[in-house]
Amino acid sequence: MKVLMVNGSAHQKGTTFRALEEIGRTLKEEGIEYEIFQLGGAPIRDCIGCGKCSEEGCVFSDDAVNKFIALAKEADGFVFGTPVYYAHPSGRILSFLDRVFYSSGSVFAYKPGAAVAVARRGGTTASFDVLNKYFGISQMPTVGATYWNQVHGLNGAEAELDAEGMQTMRNIAHNMAWMLKCFAAGREQGIQLPKTERGARTNFIR
Ligand SMILES: Cc1cc2nc3c(=O)[nH]c(=O)nc-3n(C[C@H](O)[C@H](O)[C@H](O)COP(=O)(O)O)c2cc1C
Repeated sequence: MKVLMVNGSAHQKGTTFRALEEIGRTLKEEGIEYEIFQLGGAPIRDCIGCGKCSEEGCVFSDDAVNKFIALAKEADGFVFGTPVYYAHPSGRILSFLDRVFYSSGSVFAYKPGAAVAVARRGGTTASFDVLNKYFGISQMPTVGATYWNQVHGLNGAEAELDAEGMQTMRNIAHNMAWMLKCFAAGREQGIQLPKTERGARTNFIR
């Protein structure tokens, strides 16, 4: 079993990375593999709403979106981590995830996801809420912990001083591992995926 994580910061070894690394180390102790996918500092296009997404994913192949989708098909669970910028997730993770989910949302169905927000001081729960929205619309069970999934610090070294934040990260990993093992046991017992009703698609609310 494998958990694929996204570091939504351009800092490859910053606070977000340190939080994800804590989750990864704990997953490893639980016997689960992990990979941290770095968005890095290269430009990431925003979704232009062209509606031309295909089996291969997004029409633009000059950044990491389609590479990530290929990895996501093989993964069993996900963690999306972001630094807080002006009380919201980083622009780069939003541009990235909009295109990933708009083109390939079905890849994520029935796979658990956890959102993580890190900040020096404020805006973590607002950012956490935004990332959780990708899970809610994609039939993904969400993974919580013993506090909202957040770590405080200006950088990776400060993040380590946030003992409760680090504890929260480890608890995300334990809960993710437990879910993945339960789902695998269910599959072995022949439990089918839930039925999904589709067809109704109304573009207005009355
Ligand atoms: C453009 C920008 C906006 C930021 N806005 C906030 C903010 O609203 N609240 C906050 O606590 N920290 C804010 N920060 C600080 C970062 O969230 C914080 O340093 C975080 O630990 C960086 O994580 P990283 O090392 O993974 O990039 C901001 C940083 C930048 C660059």
